[in-house]
Amino acid sequence: MNQQEYLSKNQERFLNELLDWLRIPSISADSKFASDVHKAAEFVADKLRLAGADNVAVEQTEGYPIVYGEKMVDPNKPTVLVYGHYDVQPSVPDELWETPAFEPTIRDGNIYARGACDDKGQAYMHVKAFEMMMATDTLACNVKFMIEGEEEVGSTHLGYYVKENKDKLAADVVLISDTGMIANDIPSIDTGLRGLSYVEVEVTGPNIDLHSGTYGGAVANPINVLCDMISSLHDENRHITIPGFYDQVEIVSDEDRAEMAKTPFDLEEYKKGLEVNDVMGEAGYSTIERTGIRPTLDVNGIWGGYIGEGAKTVLPSKAYAKISMRLVPNQKSADISDLFQRHFESIAPKAVKVKVTLHHGGEAAVTPTNSKAYRAASKAMEATFGKKPIPTRGGGSIPIVALFEEVLGLKTVLMGFGLDSDAIHSPNEKYGIFNFYKGIETIPYFFKYFGEEE
Ligand code: BES
Ligand code: MN
Ligand code: MN
Repeated sequence: MNQQEYLSKNQERFLNELLDWLRIPSISADSKFASDVHKAAEFVADKLRLAGADNVAVEQTEGYPIVYGEKMVDPNKPTVLVYGHYDVQPSVPDELWETPAFEPTIRDGNIYARGACDDKGQAYMHVKAFEMMMATDTLACNVKFMIEGEEEVGSTHLGYYVKENKDKLAADVVLISDTGMIANDIPSIDTGLRGLSYVEVEVTGPNIDLHSGTYGGAVANPINVLCDMISSLHDENRHITIPGFYDQVEIVSDEDRAEMAKTPFDLEEYKKGLEVNDVMGEAGYSTIERTGIRPTLDVNGIWGGYIGEGAKTVLPSKAYAKISMRLVPNQKSADISDLFQRHFESIAPKAVKVKVTLHHGGEAAVTPTNSKAYRAASKAMEATFGKKPIPTRGGGSIPIVALFEEVLGLKTVLMGFGLDSDAIHSPNEKYGIFNFYKGIETIPYFFKYFGEEE
C-alpha cells in the first residue's frame, strides 16, 4: 500500500482520534485541569507507541511531562526533531463558543475545539504522518518526537529538559507545525517568530476602597492613573515611549522590506474579516511589517474596582493590568522587562504606589531560507499544494525555538498549516479538515526531500 492509499483508508480514524484528543481539556494555565493535562500526554504517547515509535516515554518534570519517542532507521540518514505541544489555552469566555470548547464539532469542513489548530491538530498531523510512513515502510529520515505540555505557559521545564538531554535530542533540524500560512491556496512558511516580555502591574491608591463622592477628586483613583500611565506608553505615532526600547531592534533592510511588500495581503479583506473600519499601528510600517518585524506593546487584561451588576460608587484601592511586549531579533526579553519596570515605576505619580511583576518571556527567532531543511519544506509544500510557499515573518512566539538553537545548535523549520482565521486562543478556535489532511500528506515529503542527498 502506498501513502496515498493508506491515508484514504485511514483518514476517518485519524480524524476521530484527533477529536478524542481534543476532548481532553489540557489547559496548562489552570491547575484545575492538571489531571487532564497529564491525560493528554498519555494519549499522544500511546499513539506514538502504536504508530511504531521506540523508547516512548512520558518524561516527568517539575511541571507537565514531555512526551518523547523516536525511530532511528539509518545512522547515515539525517535526524528530524519534531516538536509540538499538547497543552492548550483556557477556553474562557465559554459563553462565546457556538459549541463547547472541549466537545469538538465539525461544521463546514472545520473542526471546532480549543486546540484544534494550536497545537493538537497540527501536532497530530506529525503523529499520523509518522504512522503512515511506518506502515508503508517509507520513513526516509530518523525522527525524534518531543511534545510538551507547557508551551502556552512559557515552556519553563522544557528548557531544563533540553539542557539535560542534549545527546538524546541530537538531530539535524527541528520541524514544527505550530504556525500558520497565508491561505489554503497560498502556502507559506514562517521564517521568524517574535520574542515576548510579559509583565503584570499593580497600582495602589488609598488603603481601602473609598466612597467616590466623599473622596473622589481628592485622592488618586488607581484605575484613572493606570489608564494614564498605559496610554503614555505610546506616542501619537504609536511608537513605544519606554526609553531604550528600540535600541537593539534589528533594522530590516529596504531590500527585505520591498520583498515583504510583495507578500499577498489584502488589507480590505483583513479589515472585513475582523469587522474593523481601519487598522491601527506604528506609523511608517505596513500591517505585515507591524506584526512581522516590529516590536509592540499590548494590554492583555485590565481590572479593578466594581464590575458587578448595577452601579456602585466607589473609588477603588487597586488597579491591575497584564501587559505583553512582542519583541524582534536582538531585543533581549530580560532587558526589555527591566526597561519596562524602571520606566513604569518612574512615571508613577507620587499619589500611587506601583508594583511590577515579571512573567515569562522568550527570545525572537529567525529561521534561514537558504538551508537544506527549508528547501525540503518548500519542495514538500510545492508537491502537495502545487505552489511554492512564500516565506513570511510570523507575529507569534514560540520561545523554545531560540533555545533549540542556543542549546542544541539546531535551526528550525516552521512548516505550519493553520490560518489566521483559525481563531487560536479565541472562542470558536477551529482547524480545517483540509489543513489536517494536507499536513499529513505534506510531512512525508519533507522527510523524503530532507533525507535525500543534495
Ligand atoms: N502556536 C503559537 C504561536 C504562534 C501562533 C506562532 C501563530 C505564529 C503564528 C503558540 O502556541 C503561542 O500561542 N505562543 C504564545 C507564547 C507563549 C509563551 C505563551 C504566544 O505567541 O502568545
Ligand atoms: Mn502553539
Ligand atoms: Mn498558543
